[in-house]
Amino acid sequence: MKPKVLVTREVFDETLDYLAQHCEVDSSQGDVALDPEALARRLAGKSGLMCALTDRVDPKLIERCPDLKAVANIAVGYNNIDLAACTARGIMATNTPGVLDDSTADLAWTLMLGAARRLTELERRVRAGEWTGWRLKQWLGIDVHHATLGIFGLGRIGQAIARRAAGFEMKVLYHNRKRVAADIEKRVNASYVSKDELLRQSDFVVLQVPYSPETHHMIGERELRLMKPTAILVNSTRGGVVDDAALIAALKAGTIRAAGLDVFENEPRLNPEFLKLDNVALAPHVGSSTEATRRAMAMTAAKNLVVALTGGTPPNLLNPETRKK
Ligand code: DGY
Repeated sequence: MKPKVLVTREVFDETLDYLAQHCEVDSSQGDVALDPEALARRLAGKSGLMCALTDRVDPKLIERCPDLKAVANIAVGYNNIDLAACTARGIMATNTPGVLDDSTADLAWTLMLGAARRLTELERRVRAGEWTGWRLKQWLGIDVHHATLGIFGLGRIGQAIARRAAGFEMKVLYHNRKRVAADIEKRVNASYVSKDELLRQSDFVVLQVPYSPETHHMIGERELRLMKPTAILVNSTRGGVVDDAALIAALKAGTIRAAGLDVFENEPRLNPEFLKLDNVALAPHVGSSTEATRRAMAMTAAKNLVVALTGGTPPNLLNPETRKK
């Protein structure tokens, strides 16, 4: 008998074809996030879940799904999954690291360059007919090349962001909970500094830390005041890492110059004050959203799920303790 699985969001045909070779698949291809009640109802009696960051896998859901054995998130971030609760019930949880590093780094750079050269603001002005001719002092931006880039979180994506800085001849600083190995620092040409030093010295501060209770509001009023008034903040990791209200106040007051944001608190219902500001470039959580990368993420999640449900250890297992039970 094939294991029964639920796929909560729209995926690609090849993802469903692959899953169907190994599993009995119930898939919600309407591409609307299932509410917690609908999710629990559809997952009941199934042993596998392929889900997205819009689905909460919490103790309530786990309690209602006693047959659940594996959860495959189609994302590298997994703050939507209560990992401790999964582990306590012996449920394997997996994510999709690696396949999205370069695309996500590209988007962080898109936001850096876009905010530095005011691209989203200027496009709005062009469309509104405000461009009446060339002027020397017109809509001046700031240079990215030769500036100092500070990265919070020098994991795989942070390293990909740092590697790209070489082409712009930037100085790269980073801060991590734990300093990375010397050979990695050397390869990406990044120097370790304290959190406050990074904030004080950087022209561009890029956030690439996972969201957790420890990183909740790690950039707030105090941190924004430490940044240069000419600095730009880029968040392409998770909403909640930045205190959005404090950021809006800082952007209005000129405490920092600008921001480039792909993620927000309470997304997609972002704070409406953001919409009134010219000095913020806004994107709708599309860090990994290229066709090739999203296909690779979905297939990685599908493979993790199939391996987990056929007695193997999935390559991207987040809670290896479950294999020892
Ligand atoms: C991730 O993988 O965590 C991304 O945010 C999903 O787009």
